[in-house]
Amino acid sequence: MSRKYLIAGNWKMNKTASEAEDLVGEINTSVGSQTTVQVCVCPAFTALAKTSELVEQTEVFLGSQNMNAESSGAYTGEISAEMLRDLYVSFVILGHSERRQYYGEISTAINLKVLAAVQNNLKPIYCIGETLEEREAGQTLAVVRQQVREGLANFPTNAIEHLVLAYEPVWAIGTGKTATDEMAQEVHADIRQVLAEMFGESASASVRILYGGSMKPDNAQSLLSQPDVDGGLIGGASLTSRAFCGIVEAARALS
Ligand code: PGA
Repeated sequence: MSRKYLIAGNWKMNKTASEAEDLVGEINTSVGSQTTVQVCVCPAFTALAKTSELVEQTEVFLGSQNMNAESSGAYTGEISAEMLRDLYVSFVILGHSERRQYYGEISTAINLKVLAAVQNNLKPIYCIGETLEEREAGQTLAVVRQQVREGLANFPTNAIEHLVLAYEPVWAIGTGKTATDEMAQEVHADIRQVLAEMFGESASASVRILYGGSMKPDNAQSLLSQPDVDGGLIGGASLTSRAFCGIVEAARALS
């Protein structure tokens, strides 16, 4: 089963709409017409409309960083799947560890968002990963397995090709510490095993599992060459076109 690499930039709470214009312009020039690797940018909500216009004629996909599970109603400050679709958003990051840590999101509630996303033709990028404490206590695989099972409960098997997972060890996010290639591969292979138990072997083989946590141009190639690492969710290095496109180039070289 050949899985196309996906390199997704998670801009977090960075970049105004006008700053996005500069960055996306550079990304378009550099990698916006190639189709070997799928490229996605995930700006803040306020830069989505602008970015949507900028990527319209390119091969770059648009993603958002969160979404509410409800379709509409009295949910002050929230954004629905339909609102995202209206801006031609394709991917939505769900359950990022910063949302779990700072906004109290838990896997069972994130599950409702994952299901709402896929029902609305958005591709969820469901994030999972252990804390340093959990890794040191030898709980990594148990924690990640539980996050996968809870977050993907009732996911429709016939939509499995739209599902993306991102393994992001919390201790590696924004810290400059990266999981070793072996650590990443071990967890990715285990995630694929859980997916096989839940959805069957062939469905499991079609799901892309991204690595996230201090991925940079100089460590991307060795991480991406692991058999179960199908791309990257890039934070810090997605904020400059040079670093971000360098990671895309690393994936292209392996394709
Ligand atoms: P980082 O962030 O690349 O800055 O470590 C990754 C993420 O949080 O998605």
